[in-house]
Amino acid sequence: MSDSQTISAAVAKLYNTYPFPPEPLLDEPPPGYNWRWNWLAAYSFCTGQKPQKQDIRILDAGCGTGVGTEYLVHLNPEASVVGIDLSANALEIAQERCKRSGANRVEFHHLSLYDVEQLPGEFDFINCVGVLHHLSDPIRGIQALAKKLAPGGLMHIFVYGELGRWEIQLMQKAIALLQGDKRGDYRDGVQVGRQIFASLPEKNRILKRETERWSLENQRDECFADMYVHPQEIDYNIETLFELIDASGLDFVGFSNPSFWQIDRLLGKAPELIERAKGLGDRASYRLIELLDPEVTHYEFFLSRPPLPKVDWSADNALLAAICERNPCMDGFPSQCLFNYDYQIVNLSPDELEFLQRCDGRSTVGEILANQELELDEVRGLLKQQLILLTSR
Ligand SMILES: C[S@@+](CC[C@H](N)C(=O)[O-])C[C@H]1O[C@@H](n2cnc3c(N)ncnc32)[C@H](O)[C@@H]1O
Repeated sequence: MSDSQTISAAVAKLYNTYPFPPEPLLDEPPPGYNWRWNWLAAYSFCTGQKPQKQDIRILDAGCGTGVGTEYLVHLNPEASVVGIDLSANALEIAQERCKRSGANRVEFHHLSLYDVEQLPGEFDFINCVGVLHHLSDPIRGIQALAKKLAPGGLMHIFVYGELGRWEIQLMQKAIALLQGDKRGDYRDGVQVGRQIFASLPEKNRILKRETERWSLENQRDECFADMYVHPQEIDYNIETLFELIDASGLDFVGFSNPSFWQIDRLLGKAPELIERAKGLGDRASYRLIELLDPEVTHYEFFLSRPPLPKVDWSADNALLAAICERNPCMDGFPSQCLFNYDYQIVNLSPDELEFLQRCDGRSTVGEILANQELELDEVRGLLKQQLILLTSR
């Protein structure tokens, strides 16, 4: 067996023992949404406009037990979805999960990311969450996926960050040392790990990080194993992350947690430093942010295969002529106080609420504004908050 096959076999064994994520199966669609899995919301976030087609093909690469896959099916009612994974046991649960909740526009294949070329055709949207960092060769993995992304398509990726996972890495190494020859016995690894935490003194740094940040989710052995007894994990920093992204041959569109990547939240009290930071390129700015706020446990972002037409709506005429509808990812509408796409509370003015109520997917911004008071910049503000989707006419 090659190194890469040995690693894939060890990873498959982990997830066959502890299929992940261990969310319960429901007899109905899962609650709420994650906007990153809603094609309309994700595409509009990336381009400023609603996508032209919704009958798209979606690939969930390394779908695990299908929690994300199930959302992808329910949140995109015209899409057909394909899930692939290395772990047969995880796939069995994914299949059952989707069957139970009526997510039937989906098929699953027992296939490695490396072999994704075996699937026919291209995909408009590829979701790959929590997977690439478990490959022996993440660059080969992302390149294989990139070849399957259609022109104008989007890829959503989530990989681990080294700065915020420092204590996890130390704990992984400690467990491995104590396991010795029993490495690869994942149940033994979980037992050893739990014994270590039970023994460490209260103020110990590794224990404190576990207690404050992770212990709630780690009550489940599946989560504990995924975190502490993984046979293969490569964690990134901004520099190595962009090496991975550059190797994909795709364009970086942006982080899907953009509020973290704002320098103002760290240096806002020092305008002089903000000025200096403006001289840095994007990547150096991101590096500065993570150096000053090393909480980064993961990176989540969108890549695209050009051409990806973007609209900024700065021209009044174009904005007035655009057809407007509400972003499907919001909760609590119609109300002046609602949750936006990211489950953040938004307080609308009465005029903004009225505007949103008139966004019916047929009227243009100009037609709506003919009957009510709202400045065009306020409409741009609604778009910036991802409360509306716009289509050019
Ligand atoms: C942490 S889980 C993430 C599952 C799912 N994406 C989620 O976020 O809920 C990682 C999954 O990636 C799968 N995986 C790891 N390496 C893979 C590979 N080379 N090809 C396909 N799947 C892989 C594992 O079997 C596991 O189910």
